[in-house]
Amino acid sequence: MMATRDRRLLVCASECLSEKRHIIIDLLYKGELHSAIVFRFNGKVFAYLNRCVHMPRTLNCERDAIFDEQRALLRCSMHGIVYEPETGTSLSTLCQGERLQALRLSEADDHIYINDKHVSRAQDI
Ligand code: FES
Repeated sequence: MMATRDRRLLVCASECLSEKRHIIIDLLYKGELHSAIVFRFNGKVFAYLNRCVHMPRTLNCERDAIFDEQRALLRCSMHGIVYEPETGTSLSTLCQGERLQALRLSEADDHIYINDKHVSRAQDI
């Protein structure tokens, strides 16, 4: 019987992501190098490709932050599009309704993993 390869990508220990804290990691998405944002919001963890729907820029390209000043919405630091954290949907007039690319993840044994068939480790190439 063939061993099944563990496709999970370890992000960090759960305790490293307290409420509204985020980390940014490099990974391969469909074989291309990207960064991803992983954060906790209302107790739940979410992950998206760190790529604005407006232009191919990272949300933190101009400022070392991914949330708006109230820390209620995600915000791109380039032109200010704001996104609903739970869905990644743009709430701004610019690109209204478009969504950040969500990544499947899981939290188990006090660790957070990205668990998405399109994702692999950046060092795997
Ligand atoms: S590049 Fe993100 S709002 Fe324009």
